[in-house]
Amino acid sequence: MPRTAFKRALVTGASAGIGAEYARQLAAAGTDLVLTARRLDRLEDLAAELRARHGVKIEVVPADLSKDDGLSRVEKALAADPAIDLLVNNAGYGGRTGFLRGETADHLDMVRVHVDAAVRLTKAVLPGMIARGRGAVINVSSVAAFSPASGAQYSGTKSFLVMFSENLRTELRSKGIVVQALCPGLTHTEFHAAARQDLSRVPEMFWRTASYVVRVSLRRLGGRVVCIPGWENKAAAFLMRCPLTAGLVRAAGRSRIVRERSGKGD
Ligand SMILES: NC(=O)c1ccc[n+]([C@@H]2O[C@H](COP(=O)([O-])OP(=O)(O)OC[C@H]3O[C@@H](n4cnc5c(N)ncnc54)[C@H](OP(=O)(O)O)[C@@H]3O)[C@@H](O)[C@H]2O)c1
Repeated sequence: MPRTAFKRALVTGASAGIGAEYARQLAAAGTDLVLTARRLDRLEDLAAELRARHGVKIEVVPADLSKDDGLSRVEKALAADPAIDLLVNNAGYGGRTGFLRGETADHLDMVRVHVDAAVRLTKAVLPGMIARGRGAVINVSSVAAFSPASGAQYSGTKSFLVMFSENLRTELRSKGIVVQALCPGLTHTEFHAAARQDLSRVPEMFWRTASYVVRVSLRRLGGRVVCIPGWENKAAAFLMRCPLTAGLVRAAGRSRIVRERSGKGD
């Protein structure tokens, strides 16, 4: 159960994985929802299931956040709905190539989905929250935000979300609005299949379920800005940031085997 009760939440990337799980856990706690993603059929099925099970009100907004018209549609839905007291910027995906091999247009699409969408949707939701003196924004980042070996585009956009959240929290502290940068590690969702990454050889002990990740996020919301679910991910983030070990992690990241396994080989 979330530590704070929310009246109405907007969740991006709600058609699968971590976003769908936010929708499930928030609906179970009685929160009305606005769900958005590109796959309308998935959103409608989830909305029907949650309305029937929990009796909450759910609106569905199909939108591609890499396109200006899609992002504008969600932005307008937020601006027109001052009752929204929780925004979850969750939509995202992994890179399929390294920076050099990838197309510039694809790199910019990722910036739009991970960065532009989070900035514009946060800007759109804040006036209602400030007027109410209460609200929360969750930006779904990743432990890859701290990694030198998870892809220039993916890690770069995810680390933006960490510092964006940290600084936003400082600025909003006196307004009653809390901010979280959720940094999951390996989580069982459709993410790796969509990015055509085969991680089937990574032992199960390094994986978490979306249900666990979202439970930790909602329970810790209002605490530290950076929320890293799971001891193994906390340890990895520590090793990547600690001055004594960061060099070793960087060297490991440069090795061919790591680059090939993460799809970033030459
Ligand atoms: N799974 C992991 O191991 C892991 C680890 C760390 C961080 N994360 C982060 O967690 C977040 C959720 O990912 P997930 O693991 O739940 O993956 P997922 O199961 O593949 O879900 C991704 C969601 O993002 C939506 N999305 C992707 N591109 C979009 C676009 N252009 N416009 C609108 N929506 C879009 C997808 O919906 P449609 O395809 O229907 O549009 C889907 O609902 C992402 O930000 C990801 O970076 C995941």
